[in-house]
Amino acid sequence: MFWAIVPAAGRGARFGGEVPKQYLEVAGRSVLAHTLDALLSHPRVAGAVVALSAGDPRWPGWRELAGKPVIACVGGATRAESVLAALCALPIDVPAEDFVLVHDAARPNLAAADLDSLCAACDAPYAVGAILAAPVRDTLKRADADGGIAATEPRDRLWRAFTPQMFRRGQLTRALAEAAAQGIEVTDEAMAIERLGLRPVLVEGREDNFKITTPADLARFAFEVSRR
Ligand code: C5P
Repeated sequence: MFWAIVPAAGRGARFGGEVPKQYLEVAGRSVLAHTLDALLSHPRVAGAVVALSAGDPRWPGWRELAGKPVIACVGGATRAESVLAALCALPIDVPAEDFVLVHDAARPNLAAADLDSLCAACDAPYAVGAILAAPVRDTLKRADADGGIAATEPRDRLWRAFTPQMFRRGQLTRALAEAAAQGIEVTDEAMAIERLGLRPVLVEGREDNFKITTPADLARFAFEVSRR
């Protein structure tokens, strides 16, 4: 069984509006509730630690969902700081070698089959860790300073990193703390682990495990929920 770490302390500046995107409602429940449900309804997930902004007035105060424990903690100024805070709030009896799953609160459309594949990738005895991702399918253009096309970039072997990302509790804590101490902003957990010279595995996941960033993404999620 694995604990889930859910960074939910963002204010969603890119989305606009006053309500942070993790608290927008779809089918009568917040995006965060959908995300926690997707994680906690999986048989391999033991519980969740959710990182919230300080004094978050919208947090419903859950201590248990789907019969599993939910722990809230205060996140930080960046996603990486929030993840680090949540790692420190894990129950003390979660061994340092145990894998944890870090998953964005804003990614509610996670499929159980994707979680199955990710967990399977970490079942090998000496696994470093793994992330869900998908190959880049569009042609990539590099822009010049005034918006013209400077170059076409090769897309072979380029992947888009999703979450969950799965690493060992102790190693991920050290990797994030080290990057923070060096003033390097890591944008996902794998980046912190890669900086240690380790090589996490890419697990191809579904394209519909998208992050809610714009109002169109929210409409897409509402559509996905209505189809279930
Ligand atoms: O802003 P972005 O969509 O990249 O955020 C990804 C996830 O990280 C969101 O679930 C957001 O709530 C979380 N986050 C956080 N603490 C921050 C910034 C973002 O927990 N300081």
